[in-house]
Amino acid sequence: MIYANKGEKMSLADRKVLIAYFSWSGNTKYIAEKINTKVRGDIFRIETKIPYPTDYNETAYGIAKKQHDENIHPEIKDNCDISNYDVIFVGTPAWWYTMAPPVMTFLENNNFEGKIIVPFVTHGGGGGYNIADDMKELAKTATVLTPLIVYGKGNLNTDKEIDNWLKDINLK
Ligand SMILES: Cc1cc2nc3c(=O)[nH]c(=O)nc-3n(C[C@H](O)[C@H](O)[C@H](O)COP(=O)(O)O)c2cc1C
Repeated sequence: MIYANKGEKMSLADRKVLIAYFSWSGNTKYIAEKINTKVRGDIFRIETKIPYPTDYNETAYGIAKKQHDENIHPEIKDNCDISNYDVIFVGTPAWWYTMAPPVMTFLENNNFEGKIIVPFVTHGGGGGYNIADDMKELAKTATVLTPLIVYGKGNLNTDKEIDNWLKDINLK
């Protein structure tokens, strides 16, 4: 994985920041909004043309499992023109050991040349897997920084963790 050079200060002040995320049950949305209170970018919610069912089993063991097993990347509803952004936070829940398929579609649909991707992942106990590397695979021309990995929607320490993470990756 490519990390930003340590010591290379990347102030966000003169960079255009986008926070793009997919969220099915709200955790990733919550973290996306929390990050945005600190980096003050634009927010884009990735949504599929055909929404996932609201039932957990139907989504997890039905459509999402099928998409995972068959490497299907579903169409997304709107795209977001990323050309004006320098730093793009990309948020996803862990779905079947990697990012959710709509996030794969988002990465494939856009040109990330010269862009910085800052991944953040929420999960249900499995951790962040290799999701940052998987993002790099789909957006080969981007620089992908160290991900933030949060269990569920986080806890009382999450605020501090986000601050420390932003400092570690030189974005604060
Ligand atoms: C389809 C599906 C697959 C999931 N797969 C995993 C997994 O592989 N590992 C894990 O730790 N959690 C898994 N989870 C739990 C979610 O990653 C976790 O609840 C996440 O915070 C949900 O984010 P959201 O509320 O933004 O959708 C899965 C949930 C769903 C619905």
